Amino acid sequence: MRHVPVLLTEVIDSLQLKSGMNVADCTLGDAGHSEAMLQKTSPDGKLLGVDADPESLLRAKQYLYDFGEPSLPAGRRVTFVRDNFVHLKEIISRENFFSIDAILMDLGWSSSQFAERGRGFSFEKDEPLDMRYGGDGPTAAEILNTYSQKELDLIFKNYGEEKLAKEIAASIVLRRGVAPLKTTSELVEMVLTVYRGKLHSTKEIPWVGGIHPATKVFQALRIAVNKELDVLKETLPQAISVLAPGGRLAVITFHSLEDRIVKHFFQAEENKTLKIITKKPITASAAELEANPSARSAKLRVIEKL
Ligand SMILES: C[S@@+](CC[C@H](N)C(=O)[O-])C[C@H]1O[C@@H](n2cnc3c(N)ncnc32)[C@H](O)[C@@H]1O
Repeated sequence: MRHVPVLLTEVIDSLQLKSGMNVADCTLGDAGHSEAMLQKTSPDGKLLGVDADPESLLRAKQYLYDFGEPSLPAGRRVTFVRDNFVHLKEIISRENFFSIDAILMDLGWSSSQFAERGRGFSFEKDEPLDMRYGGDGPTAAEILNTYSQKELDLIFKNYGEEKLAKEIAASIVLRRGVAPLKTTSELVEMVLTVYRGKLHSTKEIPWVGGIHPATKVFQALRIAVNKELDVLKETLPQAISVLAPGGRLAVITFHSLEDRIVKHFFQAEENKTLKIITKKPITASAAELEANPSARSAKLRVIEKL
């Protein structure tokens, strides 16, 4: 099923898109935002769509296939790039995509990747522990089987704010001494065992504050595998530098670590290179939350380049 774009109206309104504007979507995904941005910039606004994941790109190409005026097929309005957005500046020069009136970064993964892919994003499925958006760098399994106990502890603590980080890291190191961890189910079972022990619970899933005990460990690993926080820190200044004066950047984050990075960067640059449009982050309306509960943690921050 196609990923439902979050805060769609809010993104489109806050970017102040008009006919003929050029837009860069750094996180193309299933192209829901891109499609709306192309509609708003019709008939001749161009879109640069970037995604690190080849399968997302294939889906986006299908979704945007029929897009555009009869005289302007999507192929001529849209440039598709499979790359990590950390290379934004380089991508834009390579594609000669100037000048840019709006940029969107909708961070994280799409529900299609979560549901369809066999890459180990979901703890509800038994899949190999990969978790890479693109195909580069070590997989989650490689990290779990090679990093020191201290490094794993820090990943779970810093990227997942996981209370039992130390115990889970110790348990992983013990377990991999017997056999390497390979699948999401093995990791989930290990986390559950640690939680059952700590909570003296015999429940199959000892829910913690309404969430599955493996949630934070999976989030932390995904962030580590894709170096998500470093990539975000490196990309924000590039996004500002490639925007045309008066152009806008919208960033949607899904957890506090990312939101903090965006907020601090915007505050540090305020009145130097940018004006903050959203003093407080925009969150999903009650109607959107009812239709799409996965929008609950989404926060949208927008700036305008000076
Ligand atoms: C939340 S989804 C975007 C959904 C999209 N806005 C839509 O309407 O369907 C995020 C997408 O960004 C991609 N992505 C995440 N980190 C990336 C990175 N560093 N570079 C390029 N793409 C990335 C993921 O592969 C995923 O397809």
